[in-house]
Amino acid sequence: MILPPNFAVNPLTPSEIPVPPVVEAFYNPPDKPNRHTSPTFKLPRLYPTPTPNSIDNSIPTRNRGTGPIVNAFNTIRDSTNVPPTIRSRASIPAYHARGELRLFNELRSIQHEFGYLPADQLQLLSKKIDVPVSQIHAAASFYPHFHLTPPPKAEVKICADMTCHLRGGDQLKSQLEQSCRGRSASDVTIRDVSCLGRCDSAPAISINDRIYSGLAVPQAVGIVRDVLSGGQLPPEPRERLNVRIASDPYEGSPQYSIVRRFIETRDWSGIIATLKASGLRGMGGAGFPTGMKWEIVRNAPGEEHYIVCNADESEPGTIKDRFIMQTVPWLVIEGMIVAGLVTGSRKGILYIRHEYEEPREILQKEIDRCYREKLLGDRILGSDLNFDLEIFVSPGGYICGEESALLEAIEGKRAEPRNKPPFPGTNGLWNQPTVINNVETFTFATVILMRGVDWFKAQGRNGAAGMKFVGISGDVNRPGIFEVPMGISYEELLQNYAGGILDNRALLAFAPSGPSSGYLPASMTNLPLDWNAVAAAGSMVGSGAIVVVGEGRCMLDMALNAVRFYRNESCGKCVPCRMGSQKMVEMLTGWTEGRSHDGDMRLLDDLSSAMKLTSICGLGQIVPAPIQSVLKHFPDVVNEHVRNHRCPAGVCTPRRPA
Ligand SMILES: Cc1cc2nc3c(=O)[nH]c(=O)nc-3n(C[C@H](O)[C@H](O)[C@H](O)COP(=O)(O)O)c2cc1C
Ligand code: SF4
Ligand code: FES
Repeated sequence: MILPPNFAVNPLTPSEIPVPPVVEAFYNPPDKPNRHTSPTFKLPRLYPTPTPNSIDNSIPTRNRGTGPIVNAFNTIRDSTNVPPTIRSRASIPAYHARGELRLFNELRSIQHEFGYLPADQLQLLSKKIDVPVSQIHAAASFYPHFHLTPPPKAEVKICADMTCHLRGGDQLKSQLEQSCRGRSASDVTIRDVSCLGRCDSAPAISINDRIYSGLAVPQAVGIVRDVLSGGQLPPEPRERLNVRIASDPYEGSPQYSIVRRFIETRDWSGIIATLKASGLRGMGGAGFPTGMKWEIVRNAPGEEHYIVCNADESEPGTIKDRFIMQTVPWLVIEGMIVAGLVTGSRKGILYIRHEYEEPREILQKEIDRCYREKLLGDRILGSDLNFDLEIFVSPGGYICGEESALLEAIEGKRAEPRNKPPFPGTNGLWNQPTVINNVETFTFATVILMRGVDWFKAQGRNGAAGMKFVGISGDVNRPGIFEVPMGISYEELLQNYAGGILDNRALLAFAPSGPSSGYLPASMTNLPLDWNAVAAAGSMVGSGAIVVVGEGRCMLDMALNAVRFYRNESCGKCVPCRMGSQKMVEMLTGWTEGRSHDGDMRLLDDLSSAMKLTSICGLGQIVPAPIQSVLKHFPDVVNEHVRNHRCPAGVCTPRRPA
């Protein structure tokens, strides 16, 4: 049974998000910098310097393209990255005991006690956990969640990304700024922050790391005033979800039947075959076949194998994992245990964004229950099999969702993506074979193993197989998270599930999966929610973060908003993304203001292909998608800005050059 169309979730939960503290010396962007490497702080060398002999030339390299920008970026990249094949396995046996594992928890408790991370406390911590203070500082200075200097009395951060931009975030910010005019920076700071994971009740705001959403302006102003006059912050609102998930085979009473069955049969090959036959693909965005991933890890040699659940969920519009973890935590956990048993892993880590305190608590309760019932730990259900599971709270930042950056964070380092190959399946956590899957992927693995391949496939429509959780936000009447059949049309999703377009407006565009999918025009809502069909239309199903844009919005402004998100969240490790994203923001800002130069389009194309071909990870590769999609589907909007110095929607303020 599919959930009724009027089912929507309006959440609210905890935390804060990053705003990078350091700016690269030679580049000082006008509004907000990205997470550049500090010029005064050198990353400790983790791997030996490569020598020509240590580089394995048999490792395939991606098609690198040609052209002056591509060549320049490739040269820089080659000189700054160590080939993955020379990562040493020497230190592996000691990793379980290493202080790095405790680093972020220790930093969090220092920050909790002092409000920030005083230098003398970092020295003490260094001795306590036996990690050099330079390494502690390297990590702490990377994650904007950590303060190296005392914060103001009221630290106010307003989400500036797609959905909040559409739903009043900018107005909220300017009203708050007005109400705090004349206050010193030690009293209050007000600034933008990236998506807080509350897109279904936008706009979202963080005040001293507590998250509120859907507040009216006077309420938000009132809370900030109270804090400034010494009052307490109200508790974060809690979500009260009492819903039935149609695909939950346990109907709310988890039995962990797949784990029990596996203990009896040890039929790992049957489980992998079932997942392969179901066609289950990764739900984190890339869509890699799940059965194949588990098989690779099972067959990969290694002293240990690991299971990691990616619950970082930080892309604007992506809210489905929060909902899944709160409503069917048992399906996620069973999926992880089964993956562990099938691949011979003894340890699982559920990596969750720090803004998801309520889902974390719910998951922890379920994990505790599993330990009590001997479904986790040593000698599971009296057998000779062991599997431990713990939650790792992310130190913050969108880039932590990229699988190799996430692994770096667990290892206590800066979340800078690794060069690939090798992939985590063979060289993952502490260089060991690692399954890393999204929350929804583990959930559907459990569902499929319980209900069978035929049942799963039959849930789809129009030739598509299976189901999907999607988040719909933006200019719709009923934003929320919905469990829907694959193959359903976007038109039906927007009308029947999300209640149609806000204020009876017409639809202008929609992003099938947040900024990374780019925007599609209203004329394409008859597309089915189908991996291949959406890819053929030049976009992607991705993580199902559908952001809806109603008539009256400016698509150039929406493209700029999405590109700015990537610029803000770039980790700064590689030049194409760090510089390219900033260049692109400057160019698009210029266009919205009516400033353009001959050759801008050519430069944008060159820059886009250079970024796609030479960026180390998916973030840099996807930066051009929003503006490229707008150029393709809404060329007149861009032309009006740059040629006629006019914003057809009246959103931007282009001016004719004097
Ligand atoms: C910048 C960036 C951010 C990402 N964020 C997430 C995320 O929050 N959650 C997620 O599951 N996958 C995310 N991914 C994809 C992961 O790298 C990886 O493909 C995924 O966790 C694999 O799980 P799956 O096969 O189940 O999809 C991100 C990728 C990139 C490039
Ligand atoms: S592409 Fe961007 S986010 Fe990815 S490694 Fe390079 S700088 Fe970091
Ligand atoms: S909470 Fe603002 S875009 Fe997600």
